[in-house]
Amino acid sequence: MEEHLLEQFGDRHDVPGRYQDWKQMIAEADLDIVSIATPTFLHAPMAIHALEAGLHVLTEKPMAQSGEAAAAMVEAAQRAGRVLDVSFNHRQRGDVAALHEVVESGVLGSLYYAKAGWIRRQGIPGLGTWFTKAESAGGGALMDIGIHMLDMALHLMGEPDVLAASASTHAEFGPLGRGGTNVSISEVEENVPFEVEDLATAFLRLDGGGTLLLESSWAQWIPYDLCYVTLYGADGGATIEWGGDAQHPHRKLTVWTEVAGIPAELQPVAGPDGHHAAAVGAFAQKVRAGDATAHDGSLALRRARIIDACYASAAAGAEVAVQP
Ligand SMILES: NC(=O)c1ccc[n+]([C@@H]2O[C@H](COP(=O)([O-])OP(=O)(O)OC[C@H]3O[C@@H](n4cnc5c(N)ncnc54)[C@H](O)[C@@H]3O)[C@@H](O)[C@H]2O)c1
Repeated sequence: MEEHLLEQFGDRHDVPGRYQDWKQMIAEADLDIVSIATPTFLHAPMAIHALEAGLHVLTEKPMAQSGEAAAAMVEAAQRAGRVLDVSFNHRQRGDVAALHEVVESGVLGSLYYAKAGWIRRQGIPGLGTWFTKAESAGGGALMDIGIHMLDMALHLMGEPDVLAASASTHAEFGPLGRGGTNVSISEVEENVPFEVEDLATAFLRLDGGGTLLLESSWAQWIPYDLCYVTLYGADGGATIEWGGDAQHPHRKLTVWTEVAGIPAELQPVAGPDGHHAAAVGAFAQKVRAGDATAHDGSLALRRARIIDACYASAAAGAEVAVQP
């Protein structure tokens, strides 16, 4: 592990207890909560151990490398009566909050279709690290960034159940060593095969007849990175979008509907973005509220099972039911 970063961070925040071993930290540091931001395959063992030691847990997305591991985390939270939360920080964006209010106001009518995506031109994280190994990451672009868009779309649509997935995955860049970006601080290992996808698309059937289309890519021949969620309702449509290159970033939030029978395009005013700090604040509020039963990680588990169904569908070449 990165001893120099431990010291830098510890000095900057005046942290008295500094540990190389996470089990020792949980045993000795007299903690109330723990935040887990390690490689994905470690989220479940670390969270379960911490919950069993009586701590509340905030873990990074994706919750775990599989629905099975995520389910074990939820069971541990329920047994321990502690809060288990997953950091879906992008839903703390100002435009997401504003669009959520638009949906709640009923302006769009009942939502029957949505499209969401995060597509990168060149953004495979940590080529040759845990990020691109199937066992440690559980998946590629869908698991890593598609999960944020899935979370936002379901949140904005009012949490419909996802019944089935039909998905496909591709790996056109990673296996050739192309499309990488240097964001992981983990050590690059020699000759690590690229075992996950760099592009995934999914057609998700929603309870009540609705549809959600999801696309995620770490690398693709496109002009610039783009994120979007577009909602289609009986009485209106709306989109949030952000992306662009460093010189020309753009973001928009637009609603199309009718006002007094007149077709109208509205641009709701969005508040400031919340980022990670807001996700941590939301977790702290859940802990303080003391209602662990309402915050046992079940919502994130539903997302993990949807991702499972997408990968199973891509492997089978057929639609797959999502485990309820
Ligand atoms: N919410 C977000 O927007 C967001 C953004 C980036 C990463 N993440 C998630 O955070 C997690 C980590 O991603 P990253 O980009 O920081 O990875 P990274 O490879 O850059 O860093 C991983 C860290 O985990 C540490 N680590 C590895 N094994 C450990 C162990 N046994 N005990 C203690 N520490 C250990 C490493 O030393 C390193 O500091 C992933 O699950 C990723 O999906 C979330």
